[in-house]
Amino acid sequence: MHPMANRPKALVTAPFRGDGMTTLESIADVVYDPWIEQRPLRIYDGEKLAARIDQEGAEILVVESDFVRGPVFDRPLRVIGSCRGDPNNVDVAAATNAGIPVLRAPGRNADAVAEMTVALLFAVNRFVVPADRDVRAGQVYANGLIPYQRFRAWQLAGRTAGIVGLGAVGRATKWRLEGLGMKVIAFDPYNNEATHTLDDLLEEADVVTMHAMVTDETRGMIGKDEFARMKPDAIYLNTARAMLHDTDALTAALQNGQLGGAGLDHFEGENLPTGHPMCSMQNVVLTPHIGGATYDTEANHSRMIADDIDRLFRGERPLHIVNPEVLK
Ligand SMILES: NC(=O)c1ccc[n+]([C@@H]2O[C@H](COP(=O)([O-])OP(=O)(O)OC[C@H]3O[C@@H](n4cnc5c(N)ncnc54)[C@H](O)[C@@H]3O)[C@@H](O)[C@H]2O)c1
Repeated sequence: MHPMANRPKALVTAPFRGDGMTTLESIADVVYDPWIEQRPLRIYDGEKLAARIDQEGAEILVVESDFVRGPVFDRPLRVIGSCRGDPNNVDVAAATNAGIPVLRAPGRNADAVAEMTVALLFAVNRFVVPADRDVRAGQVYANGLIPYQRFRAWQLAGRTAGIVGLGAVGRATKWRLEGLGMKVIAFDPYNNEATHTLDDLLEEADVVTMHAMVTDETRGMIGKDEFARMKPDAIYLNTARAMLHDTDALTAALQNGQLGGAGLDHFEGENLPTGHPMCSMQNVVLTPHIGGATYDTEANHSRMIADDIDRLFRGERPLHIVNPEVLK
């Protein structure tokens, strides 16, 4: 028989690139149709995805944003790869019932989010956005002041950064901030390397940066009292999730001058209401959940998922399997 005759088909609707694609192509015939290239946006629901699996005759499914639900689990799939840290687009219980292994890609975007955190920190601390706006508008002299008078700041080297949540992103942020000459302290009840209680961190840090996951314990963990505990002029960064703080309390802390500034990459409902008070604050930098948006993130999840499919097909245990109970 021809060696290619029994190759499985892989339907890949995630962006997929680099070594991971090479590995997957060595295992399977790949149908590559990533959601991210579609105009208009295309996100499959369970029915549409099941129909596509039928159309391609796929036994391997690799997704990022599509919803893996209901009828998908009636298909003869050998594995589902979800190119995310938290595979919440997959009904894992149904996959387990159907005996289908589900793989994930933890920490795939840790470096990307850490770099975005550093970008926001510099942008907030050195007024990069309003200064750029002034140059573009031909208004470098404003209110009788030259730019040097309006845009002064303390340098970051020598100051203290407090990391809340020392997981993949928190650790990737830590060494970067240390590289800038900052003293880095951390709060994380589940990581022995964390140095501080939350209260001590809030009192000591010049920069507080959020990297915890959202849980019952962390939802709203930074509110009025916590902002009040921070140093006057502290910078608050959140490239994790808006649900970790009370947005009204943050807005009030900025309005009454308690905080020096803020950099945010996430909002509840993915956007701020138009005309929100933070939109007119020049010490606030707002980005729309793009922390993880690098090509490297895609290369990382591709490598992790493809290597684990390879392990599975060789009879080895995948490193990042969500439902190991399906392994015989
Ligand atoms: N902006 C983006 O595009 C983007 C991309 C990826 C991840 N994120 C977010 O960044 C955050 C971190 O992601 P990650 O990949 O590092 O996750 P992770 O699971 O590796 O790390 C989360 C950390 O939070 C800690 N934690 C749990 N409970 C805590 C508590 N009560 N107080 C403090 N820390 C606590 C955990 O111990 C863990 O170390 C998540 O909220 C994630 O949703 C954002």
